[in-house]
Amino acid sequence: IKFTIEDHDGNRQEVEAPDDMGLSLMEILKASEYPVLATCGGMALCATCHVEVFDGQDGLGDATDAELDQLENLPEYFPTSRLACQIRISDMLEGAVFKLRGEDN
Ligand code: FES
Repeated sequence: IKFTIEDHDGNRQEVEAPDDMGLSLMEILKASEYPVLATCGGMALCATCHVEVFDGQDGLGDATDAELDQLENLPEYFPTSRLACQIRISDMLEGAVFKLRGEDN
């Protein structure tokens, strides 16, 4: 499937990812060399994989309590903020648009 990533500088790029391997969006971002620290390794504990969902919310499952706890503790978060490590790549995300919002250093 293909979806779009907007980086911290506002540059958009289409990213292609397999939807049948159970990968998370965080893993795809790292594999695509986006600056995602993912300090906790995808455990919904560090929030460095914070993304804002511009398009494609319908393809995402509900956030878990652990994910919501992390998002609510961020200095800045948005109505469609999610943790990329908690987003599974599925065919529902075709055409989605995500904006990187985590720390980039
Ligand atoms: Fe740590 Fe997603 S990688 S919260």
